[in-house]
Amino acid sequence: CGIVGYAGRNAAAPVIIESLKKLEYRGYDSAGITVLGKEIETYKAVGKIVNLEAEIPKNLGGSVGIGHTRWATHGRPSTKNAHPHNSGGNPGKISLVHNGIIENYMALKEQLTGEGYVFNSETDTEVVAHLLHKHIYGKPDGKEAKCELLVGLRESLKEIEGSYALAILSADEPGKLVLARKDSPLVIGLGKGENFAASDVTAFLSHTRDVVFVNDFETAVLSPAGVEIFDREGKPREKKIEKIEWDFEAAEKAGYEHFMLKEIHEQVTAIHNTLAGKVSELEGDIYLKELNLSEDEIRELVRVQILACGTSWHAGLLGKYLFEQLAGIHCDIDICSEYRYRNPVMNEGTLAIAITQSGETADTLAAVREIMSYNCPTLAITNVVGSTITREANSVLYTRAGPEIGVAATKTFTTQLTLLYLLAVKFALVRDRLSPDYVKSFITDLRKVPGQIQQILNQKEIIKECADGFARSKSYFFLGRHLNYPIALEGALKLKEISYVHAEGFAAGELKHGPIALLDEGTPVVAIATRGHTYEKMLSNIKEVKARDAFVIAVADNKDTEITKYVDVVLRVPQSDELLSPLLSIVVLQLLAYYTALARNCSIDKPRNLAKSVTVE
Ligand code: G6P
Repeated sequence: CGIVGYAGRNAAAPVIIESLKKLEYRGYDSAGITVLGKEIETYKAVGKIVNLEAEIPKNLGGSVGIGHTRWATHGRPSTKNAHPHNSGGNPGKISLVHNGIIENYMALKEQLTGEGYVFNSETDTEVVAHLLHKHIYGKPDGKEAKCELLVGLRESLKEIEGSYALAILSADEPGKLVLARKDSPLVIGLGKGENFAASDVTAFLSHTRDVVFVNDFETAVLSPAGVEIFDREGKPREKKIEKIEWDFEAAEKAGYEHFMLKEIHEQVTAIHNTLAGKVSELEGDIYLKELNLSEDEIRELVRVQILACGTSWHAGLLGKYLFEQLAGIHCDIDICSEYRYRNPVMNEGTLAIAITQSGETADTLAAVREIMSYNCPTLAITNVVGSTITREANSVLYTRAGPEIGVAATKTFTTQLTLLYLLAVKFALVRDRLSPDYVKSFITDLRKVPGQIQQILNQKEIIKECADGFARSKSYFFLGRHLNYPIALEGALKLKEISYVHAEGFAAGELKHGPIALLDEGTPVVAIATRGHTYEKMLSNIKEVKARDAFVIAVADNKDTEITKYVDVVLRVPQSDELLSPLLSIVVLQLLAYYTALARNCSIDKPRNLAKSVTVE
């Protein structure tokens, strides 16, 4: 979900609607806007933004406004629960939009209800509107402001626990909107005679590239004439204006039917860009100058702790195999929402690596704060410049994937893997576990990967045919061993996310300990069987499932003729180093998921119930 705000000379409603459409990719179930002209006017609708547009009167006046796309957390998707939330009667004195979660909202709601405030929604956000009203107007039917909005806001924030990006309008303070942030992204765009606010720069990139990032506990006042930012005590703050360099054109579909398909294709350049300037074939070396660790510190590392969620967690799981196998460093990996609450044991010499494409995942940020409280150095791997994690971690390595609009992660995953390969090999080199000669040939092989991905893309019709044949299946299994185990998990997740088919990934050797009971005749089982030291074991597992009449689709090397004896369909990847083949196999599985979703007529770029960036716990 996301918030937007506008203060300018033009009619606010069309600008806000346009901005909300740019944020659609974040996922949402309802939307709303408030425009402040002579009075507060609020419109809301469930479902797509076109539904909201239908509610808004043509030629709606008011050149200051706020908007919101909501992804339900407290209270189901409904018009009442959609933002903005207002207080002070109808049309209301205060109107606001909120991204985040007010953790103590139950207690505040009880208190405010006791004081006579009437709640219209089941949301946590509405308490903020009434609390603000109380601080400014004294009581539910209070009509005269006793203090300014900004002062009332500062008082209210003292009582609020949780996370928020807030954009607020007051009927008594026309021509401006007020912002506040804690633990939820918020950025201001500076225009000429107009200013913008949003959870994400894409919302206003067509208007301005000059931005100011709002930090935790800061508040801001936006008017057509300018922007003022204040610290938590209310003292004005000078802020750096930053220029957003990336091009919004890059975020358009470029002729593909879906962003996801475009982004699958973009992996060729994304991996290339991520490698650029970081590897030397000649020297057999890897350069990670953004990593704030000396060679001595790398040598002294005892443990790597990876923290991530979703697809990024799958990248991390593969990273664990790499750090242990190549660099000989003990590596743990946790799902962030678990890590926070499990009282982890910390040892000296641990490096935390947080992997998050968005850099805004609330669970990941919380886990990072937890581990940083033990003075553990933290490295973030992310795709979004200026995202919250980049301002918290000690070092940042960027995946250079460009904006990823499809909710299901593709190019951010393979570029995360690329950086994990570089890190593990670099650590191995520094710790004398690999020779520069080995690293030279590894770099040569890694550089071949984009071209090999292109070869897979050139044959995507074969994958489409396979997907079409099974699109009506009720359940899929994905099997892999060693580095292909995380790939099996990710292949299953892709299918679940976009085609709403039940799919599970398993370590192939684990199948016999339970899940094999689920197999029956014709169940599609995707087995990742590229050549490597577990290949023979994989063949045994394939035979096990064939004996239960499953239909086996193997992902195998294009030179492997043996595999055809044991399976029903083979999807080919170019022959590559065992270590690097996951970067190829996953592309096949991404396409398999994409074409299955296409055949099932699903909403591929915006799957139901999912959000690109989950900024709530
Ligand atoms: C959401 C997205 C997933 C993503 C996960 C972690 O659930 O839908 O695709 O893998 O968040 O996101 P992050 O930005 O931290 O990588």
